[in-house]
Amino acid sequence: MAATPLTDVAQRLLANVEQDHGDLAPGIMRLPTTNYTDPAMYQREIEQIFHKVPLAVALTVDVPNAGDYLAYDIAGRAIVVVRGDDGVARTFVNACRHRGAPVVCNGAGTARRMTCPYHAWVFDTKGSLVGLPQREQFGDISDLGDMGLLELPTAERVGIVFSVLTPGATMDIDEWLGDMQGALELLELEKVYPHTTTTSLPSGNWKSTADGYLDGYHIGFLHSSNLGLKQVNNRNTWDLFGPHVRLGFANKTIVAQKGQPVETWDLPDVMSLVHYVFPNVSISGQPGRATMVSRLLPGPSVSEATVVQFHYSREPLDSPDKVQAMETRRKLYAAITGDEDFDTVIDINRTIPGMCGADFVFGRNESGNQNLHTWVATLTA
Ligand code: FES
Ligand SMILES: [Fe+2]
Repeated sequence: MAATPLTDVAQRLLANVEQDHGDLAPGIMRLPTTNYTDPAMYQREIEQIFHKVPLAVALTVDVPNAGDYLAYDIAGRAIVVVRGDDGVARTFVNACRHRGAPVVCNGAGTARRMTCPYHAWVFDTKGSLVGLPQREQFGDISDLGDMGLLELPTAERVGIVFSVLTPGATMDIDEWLGDMQGALELLELEKVYPHTTTTSLPSGNWKSTADGYLDGYHIGFLHSSNLGLKQVNNRNTWDLFGPHVRLGFANKTIVAQKGQPVETWDLPDVMSLVHYVFPNVSISGQPGRATMVSRLLPGPSVSEATVVQFHYSREPLDSPDKVQAMETRRKLYAAITGDEDFDTVIDINRTIPGMCGADFVFGRNESGNQNLHTWVATLTA
């Protein structure tokens, strides 16, 4: 299904409020709770999903200029996303080809040359080995021509850098994104400005956490004292683009728009949006409004994950007041998601073993969750 304009999403949300239910899946889905605890299944998910499909590893604005990099570990792989001198974003395994030391520390930075701290081998922004001490002791230098950083397949689309975590893998990013690319394009992510402080929060199993990303049913309950005050619970629109999902939430203000031309609606006021980029990124926000990107890092065990939240402004953060406003927003979302969503996921991981494999059930109102588990099953079969 092609991505429809956001005015269409808004009209569907109003219709859902009026009919007292959201978009519905054809049926329910039952799922054994062992799917959240089985270490062998988790290992297959890491190998068949996280190491094989394109992952949204950074936004374009995280590495805007030549030499800008972002380094972190994901699914047991140390990576560094670097903007080359030629303007191209590349992703490398963050491991020196001499003996494996990381060539940059985890975090964001800028470096036209990456110098390994162990024996000072030097790599440029294209990953090429361009210098090493006592090079004559390593034989003919031409033999070292293939000793550049291991490059991971990378492509940049709609303000996002995508990579596959396996060197030499093939990647067709346009096919992988399908019509989600058009949906993401509407977010204008290439126009946002990063807030430099990020949030790192512990959570439980990655699929339990992703279930929360894709859950429009809990807002009025788990978040009754904050997000639930502004939304009409459980009246969601679901746009499924392969494994990816655009999830619409109706805000209470939407009912006042009835009878008004949709072109006059203040869309960010009447609805909220989440774009779930399978398997591990949730983008919460709309054109013209502050946006949060949550990156879910699975592991180290089946019952653990970390969520890292990145906040972006729609205007330059060029004054202390603007930075302070973003910092206030960052802390608010850290508290809501940390204390409510992820603490609940951690609790769920504590209770599931006692359920001894009994089923969970996803309702017809939980299309996104059903889609997630269908795709996980397909990709790990
Ligand atoms: S491990 Fe990097 S220079 Fe030796
Ligand atoms: Fe939530």
